[in-house]
Amino acid sequence: MNDMQKEIVEGLKRFRLEKIEPHMEHDDFEGTFRMDIFNQLGELGFTGMSVSEEYGGLNLPCQDYSYALEEIAKSSVAYAVTISVSSMVQSIIDTFGNEQQKQKYLPELTSGQAIGAFALSESGAGSDAASLKTTAKKVEGGYILNGSKLWITSGGIAKTYVVMARTGAEGSKGVSAFIVEDGTKGFEYGKKERKMGWNISPTRELLFDNCFVPEENLLQQEGMGFKVAMSGLDKGRVAIGSISVGCAQRALDEAIKYSLERQQFKQAIFNFQGLQFMMADMACDVEASRLLVQAAAKSIDDGQSNQKLASMAKMRASDTAMSVTTDAVQILGGVGYTKEYPVERFMRDAKVLQIVEGTNQIQKVVISRMLKKEYES
Ligand code: CAA
Repeated sequence: MNDMQKEIVEGLKRFRLEKIEPHMEHDDFEGTFRMDIFNQLGELGFTGMSVSEEYGGLNLPCQDYSYALEEIAKSSVAYAVTISVSSMVQSIIDTFGNEQQKQKYLPELTSGQAIGAFALSESGAGSDAASLKTTAKKVEGGYILNGSKLWITSGGIAKTYVVMARTGAEGSKGVSAFIVEDGTKGFEYGKKERKMGWNISPTRELLFDNCFVPEENLLQQEGMGFKVAMSGLDKGRVAIGSISVGCAQRALDEAIKYSLERQQFKQAIFNFQGLQFMMADMACDVEASRLLVQAAAKSIDDGQSNQKLASMAKMRASDTAMSVTTDAVQILGGVGYTKEYPVERFMRDAKVLQIVEGTNQIQKVVISRMLKKEYES
């Protein structure tokens, strides 16, 4: 880490331990999202890390953004995810939006006054995103949206939604991307999901019933929506990888600390080689995942195509988060399974990291397609 990165991580560590950590057990149980925590992260600049200063962002390299998300995730995967999805929306508007769209939507997102959400998935279009059925029919001055979106992170608390809808024929080329604001007539929230983890971050259905969206809210041109969504996900997947590393690192920290204190058979359980080997493997997996995530982030900073690395980073780091949190619960034993220690929360929060922003099986599809291209060329 360079000096700047160390400074970011130190600042965030102080913030999370003082402002986030004390609420986690209660809020995870109650399913409470605190907008004031998000606003405070915004005041510190951490809700708009990637976007340029012109629109209120910090303009940080992706490698710094990755370390920052990792640090927040050590206390709360949920707040880190809220920031990462909102940042994906910002990156999409920053990359594909026109000047008017950037000026209108970016400042309140970068400052943390508003949250952004990304609406691609539908009940019949999860992994096969290009088969989405929500329609956007061209009318005078705009489009009429009809349909529904499912499993939307920050649904209901977000103010700015990037929604993919069909303006043309079947398949990826018939998809367009729109910015839809909370409160737009014909746009309502459906059921709120009850989940295994990510309890602080609401996941909700979005319903569009003859919802008029003005023409100026179309991103790029008709038919560009699938590419807009996929490029957003290229960066989003690196962010999910970063959060996974933070989740895994925290579980490893807890396991080591506990094993040094816990006495059985007249000694600290750390002394048993069976556990030492487990922790050595866990530490290796965390470090290897971090390096892969950083390599993917660097490729974005260097302006190189990163699809393969982004998928590798997301897949490897989230698999590590799942295995390391599971092993941490095992090392803590009986108390690890209770809410007395945070490892069970991190284990529950890890699972969906293997599913969101493309399941890890879809990441393998992306990686193998890229390998085929490389070897055929
Ligand atoms: N960047 C730019 N363009 C891209 C791209 C990328 N990363 N990936 C694909 N494209 C382009 C292709 O070049 C192609 O364009 P042309 O036709 O002009 O050549 C077009 O998009 C279609 O691509 P594919 O033929 O590869 O499309 P496909 O239907 O085979 O799907 C897929 C590919 C990788 C399986 C894709 O559907 C996918 O990623 N599925 C998973 C969906 C997903 O990740 N959902 C996440 C939901 S959001 C979420 O979880 C966020 C959250 O709230 C936490």
